[in-house]
Amino acid sequence: MTRQKIVAGNWKMNNDLSETEALLGDLKNQVIPENVTVMVAPAFTNLYSAFDSVREDAIEVVAQNMHQASNGAFTGEVSAAMLLSVGVKTVILGHSERRQYFNEGSKILSEKVNAALENNMTVIFCFGEGLEDRKSENHFEIVKQQLAGGLFHISEENWSSIVLAYEPVWAIGTGETASPEQAQEMHGYIRTLISENYNNTIAERVSILYGGSVKPGNAKEIFGKKDVDGGLIGGAALKCEDFMAIVNAFE
Ligand code: 13P
Repeated sequence: MTRQKIVAGNWKMNNDLSETEALLGDLKNQVIPENVTVMVAPAFTNLYSAFDSVREDAIEVVAQNMHQASNGAFTGEVSAAMLLSVGVKTVILGHSERRQYFNEGSKILSEKVNAALENNMTVIFCFGEGLEDRKSENHFEIVKQQLAGGLFHISEENWSSIVLAYEPVWAIGTGETASPEQAQEMHGYIRTLISENYNNTIAERVSILYGGSVKPGNAKEIFGKKDVDGGLIGGAALKCEDFMAIVNAFE
């Protein structure tokens, strides 16, 4: 995958079947700009119907999570093969809510990344520091640890299946956004880390999304930064009008 502009809506635990169908119905009526890849991540229960409804459209349906094992006695979990069987080829891994509420640390996340890559899926790998880390100016170190622990074991070839999403936890659902300068500073640092651990070509090719209170009013400025390739959108992705305003925010 070469560097591309991406806007992905993470619907989290919102929207039942009929709400999912209604929102997708609205989105399908919109004109998606050709230079932007648009993704939506509905709940597991709605993935199949969502995939079925956007088959012919320029919207990709992605999953919010998956289990690392291929199958077996893991009550309540969903495997890569199950996602693929309903048409889902991309999965969000390492979201801060998974890290925080479901104890997903680097070991589990690296296994999940491996499982996704072994199944030829694309991974949207999320990471980002908490408020305390930011206040104590430890944010670069935290991001470095999260990337080193969950992702930097993959091969050079596998980077073509990776999208990164920097989501500072203090900006998620809080209305508090990282300033465009803070986002650029971190995204630039992330490319430096990749360059040091792999090479410059990989660092320049990977798409790095920003997530955390992206809204129609701030998307343009954030997406205007040179190392920001788009956004992972929570709350504002639940309204067609707001989501499309963000999709259309690229220069
Ligand atoms: P908000 O856009 O609601 O802050 O959520 C961001 C997020 O967590 C996307 O994954």
